[in-house]
Amino acid sequence: MISQKSVQQILETAKVEEVVEEYVNLKRRGVNMLGLCPFHNEKTPSFTVSPAKNIYKCFGCGKGGNAVQFLMEHENFTFPEALRHLAQKYNIEIEETQTSRENIEERQLLDSLYIITQFAKEYYADQLLNTSKGKSIGLSYFKERGYREESIKKFGLGFAPEKRDNFTLTAVQKGFNIELLRKIALTSKHNSDFFRNRVMFPIHNLAGKVIGFGGRTLQKGKKIPKYINSPETEIYNKSKVLYGAFHAKKGIRQEDECILVEGYTDVISLHQAGIENVVASSGTSLTVGQIRLIKRYTPNIKIIYDGDPAGVKAALRGLDLILEQDMNVKVVLLPEGEDPDSYLQQLGSSDFKQFIDENAKDFILLKTNLLIEETKGDPVKKAGLIKDIVSSIAWIPDPLKRSVYAKECSNVLELDEHVLIDAINKVVKQKLYKKRQQDQIASPKSQQQLTEELLSLEPSPESGLGNLKTDKRPPVSLLEFQEKDIARILIASGGELFDKENNVTVAAYILSNIEEVMNDFDNKICEKIAKECLQLLADKKPITTQHFTNHEDAEISQFSIDLIHTPFEFSPNWKAFWDIDLQTQPLPDQNFLKDSIYALHRFKLKKIIQMCEKNQERLKAFNEKENTTKMMKLLKMQQRLITMRDELAKKLNTVVLK
Ligand code: CTP
Ligand code: MN
Repeated sequence: MISQKSVQQILETAKVEEVVEEYVNLKRRGVNMLGLCPFHNEKTPSFTVSPAKNIYKCFGCGKGGNAVQFLMEHENFTFPEALRHLAQKYNIEIEETQTSRENIEERQLLDSLYIITQFAKEYYADQLLNTSKGKSIGLSYFKERGYREESIKKFGLGFAPEKRDNFTLTAVQKGFNIELLRKIALTSKHNSDFFRNRVMFPIHNLAGKVIGFGGRTLQKGKKIPKYINSPETEIYNKSKVLYGAFHAKKGIRQEDECILVEGYTDVISLHQAGIENVVASSGTSLTVGQIRLIKRYTPNIKIIYDGDPAGVKAALRGLDLILEQDMNVKVVLLPEGEDPDSYLQQLGSSDFKQFIDENAKDFILLKTNLLIEETKGDPVKKAGLIKDIVSSIAWIPDPLKRSVYAKECSNVLELDEHVLIDAINKVVKQKLYKKRQQDQIASPKSQQQLTEELLSLEPSPESGLGNLKTDKRPPVSLLEFQEKDIARILIASGGELFDKENNVTVAAYILSNIEEVMNDFDNKICEKIAKECLQLLADKKPITTQHFTNHEDAEISQFSIDLIHTPFEFSPNWKAFWDIDLQTQPLPDQNFLKDSIYALHRFKLKKIIQMCEKNQERLKAFNEKENTTKMMKLLKMQQRLITMRDELAKKLNTVVLK
């Protein structure tokens, strides 16, 4: 593991603007820098980088973070990967902690496996380009298929010679451990090569490291498999890998669309034709992991199918899991007998591009249209199809989208729209109930959301959209505002001096005033932040903005970044809710003293009002026969609370009208 010291050193050294500038064209705007957001499509820049705060934030899509988070988001690095990348950029030597020997061994094992796969890739490429068999069999095959040298290099294509153990012997000679060669499945347990007499396609992970291979035979007519592929290993998890993803990720982001094909050769041909947002599922059916991988880059997916109509229909039935991930799925059907590679060769690249643009059909509509033909005159079959379509639509998480599909499909199916909507809602409901049962460990909040979603599905016949309501998020909790306010001040100026003479920091001032409610926060992240500040004070450590924006707990760092980067405003609901007018004040950055005092007052006021209400409830619950001394106590307390409330309100220059 990377030591905490190194992590801190990297975070302190890395300048967010220098990291971002490698990907985004930034222009100075006052103290900040501005550019087009790399995470969503936009024409006017709303992607802001603050060198002073060392963070970025997009006001369009809401993404924000520090240099590490930028790399994690943009390059899909893991946290350690991003750190190592920055360490390299800034010439920082990483110190590894000795804490867990297993971790180190595990890392070393993975590193050695990657070194072997890299060696193997170079070996096979060398065989292809520099040996007579490689050139005459492998290279001439690729050339015949129309692959240019640059494509062969880009995808690292190679050739595995026929001899039983040529690769294994070379590798062992170079000092590679035979056990590891077996572990990565390039060598069999009898020490022969796994790939022989095949052209080789290395499979890369998202970071561009080789994790496995596919090998295609060139022998025609023999009863051997056309392709053999590396099995799953420590570094190759098939359900999370798409062939070509490393080379396509930039194109996918640029086009905001991912094209999915079946084969290695299709990916390479399309790239060569300038269509670079292509990946392949490599002949297996899609997994959720693979879809999530695409979803990191775009919600739009276009699947090019080859094969016979029966095969396509079967494939269409297996696509619901893409819908569940809330992806927009389009499908292109190629003429029978063609695959993307062959059809591209036939049409040439510009006609091919035009073909896929013009023939991309919405998945659900296509499925409905294709399958309806089979049901002509057969009501039982038709009922089956309706069930099938209903179930597909029910997978779509977005209610508005569901309603649009319901409308369109009801036309094709010649069915009353509301009948279809009712059927869809029934399935959605069943799914939600099922999910609820499975989510026993889920937080109460998501339970509440589920309930709301269920409620939103109750029939409302007069609505044109049937009873499919659009996104109905619960209002941002009114009560949380004051807590966030406190957290914001602690993060933004907790370390500033509140009282210069007595050396009291803003954090110390605020925390000493709210100590008694420290465990009563409604927002648990705010509570964590307040408690952590308390700990930092106790440990006599500085409280800095960076401490929180660079926090190792991703939830805290994200929350902090959002807090301090959101333009300051009072809750618009403040007045409506508490019926209190607030003074307007300068922005907190310029006025943290006053800001702290007021935030504190608001926070306390909120807590007191809450306590008042609770007390009131208890008072109401009393009946006369009961213990009157206790009741008197409560009444007194209520008096005190009201006095405190009014005093605070006065301090805030406000009037409590209740
Ligand atoms: N595949 C496989 N094992 C097989 C056949 C196919 O793993 N025995 C996978 C490969 O990833 C292959 C994909 O399925 O790329 C599609 O198969 P196919 O269309 O038969 O191969 P192509 O890639 O089109 O190869 P070619 O054009 O050379 O026939
Ligand atoms: Mn093919």
